[in-house]
Amino acid sequence: MRIRIKEILEQGTAAGSRSFSGWVRSVRSSKEICFIVLNDGSTVDGIQIVAESTLPNFSDICRIGTGTALTVEGALVESPATGQQWELMATAITIIGDADASYPLQKKRHSFEYLRTIAHLRPRTNTFGAVFRLRSRLAQAVHHFFAENNFLYVHTPIITASDCEGAGELFRVSTLDAAAPPMLDGQTDFSQDFFGQKTGLTVSGQLEGELFALAFGDVYTFGPTFRAENSNTARHASEFWMIEPEMAFATLADDADLAEKFVRYLCRFALEECADEMAFFDKHIEKGLVERIARVAGADFVRMEYSEAISRLQNSGASFAYPVEWGLDLQTEHERYITEQIVGGPAFILNYPKDIKAFYMRQNEDGRTVAAMDLLVPKVGEIIGGSQREERLDRLELRMAELGIAGEPLWWYLDSRRWGSCPHAGFGLGFERLVMYLSGMENIRDVIPFPRTPRHCEF
Ligand code: 4AD
Ligand code: MG
Repeated sequence: MRIRIKEILEQGTAAGSRSFSGWVRSVRSSKEICFIVLNDGSTVDGIQIVAESTLPNFSDICRIGTGTALTVEGALVESPATGQQWELMATAITIIGDADASYPLQKKRHSFEYLRTIAHLRPRTNTFGAVFRLRSRLAQAVHHFFAENNFLYVHTPIITASDCEGAGELFRVSTLDAAAPPMLDGQTDFSQDFFGQKTGLTVSGQLEGELFALAFGDVYTFGPTFRAENSNTARHASEFWMIEPEMAFATLADDADLAEKFVRYLCRFALEECADEMAFFDKHIEKGLVERIARVAGADFVRMEYSEAISRLQNSGASFAYPVEWGLDLQTEHERYITEQIVGGPAFILNYPKDIKAFYMRQNEDGRTVAAMDLLVPKVGEIIGGSQREERLDRLELRMAELGIAGEPLWWYLDSRRWGSCPHAGFGLGFERLVMYLSGMENIRDVIPFPRTPRHCEF
């Protein structure tokens, strides 16, 4: 297997002479010597290569442009220059793929807005290199965490006939002729569609996750999630990844405890296992990031009742675009005020009004709230949404009837409450929002490789 620059740098002079490949980030040349920074995606900074005029193709090497693919042979030596411990004295350099001056990534810094227009090339920049290495390692850490805690990993379906969140934000999946669909009584006849019914892309794996929790105890899904909400914000994507654990014999308090343990684990993991990337973000994206995440990794998360959050917002003296009153669905401005100004760190908000939450949440004895929780974090706002589920069949059916949700298509969900039902709880962590939180990146479009948002589905 090819050796990576990361390994060469870790081995130091012990690496001996090695052959490796990567892409040129910068070239500086004079008559006698040429300095090339080469990056192969394995590290933030890459490696400085020293090419001397004794190389047979020295004149070709001096003319290469940023972005060129090279294979280099040589050994590490202590670098006399500051800013790097090692540099590599090249004994041979082969030009594998040229890049001329039209290569768009010539400047050292480009705006994130511009880089979104070249999402096919932005992985080759330092910032996006760091983002996507962090993202990859975090995804692996998610699986580690649940494996260590004996959760079963379940692959919930992506095509579904049920709208879990009941918000009507399903992308339709259909093979009917959009221009001339079969009609019945003035409406599209979905019985003639591929699945014989109306289907869409999943907005959450929760309902199926619950079925598995009632068999395996503790389970989680981690997969792509789709929402056709027309909100053009820095935190919403039409396609995103969600991690959804579900625990049987568990209450809302257990749910919050798991969420806290999980998020703190991921914070520690990022600091320890992605230290170079985190140092890069701290230097270039958000000053103080490492200290902020270290504080979160070590601190207890605040738990606050929704009603208390409302009164503290009302008494804050701050003015909001959406006026604060009991029953309000907290907006990002409120969420950020709570976590940034009132708490100064992550905070769970518990027991929301039932009218702003989904049908499946467990109804509290007060008759007006449900056992819901959101985890709010500075800068991002809501990062987790979860709840204890309504496990009592009669209460669940009553609530569905109140909300006009037909029971018949959810017969299988109701069946789970018919036999061996038990208190159970779970949550969904938005994976992109987690990456935003840990990297300091401020736009969801910049933490997912190829973002899908309203009117954008290129690449
Ligand atoms: O709060 P949500 O809608 O909760 C659910 O879907 C539950 N079924 C989860 C569960 O209990 N198993 O979404 C959960 C999280 C949010 O807190 C947010 O982090 C993320 O998913 N999320 C989005 N991330 C990016 N773009 C969007 N459009 C998102 N919508 C939700
Ligand atoms: Mg939510």
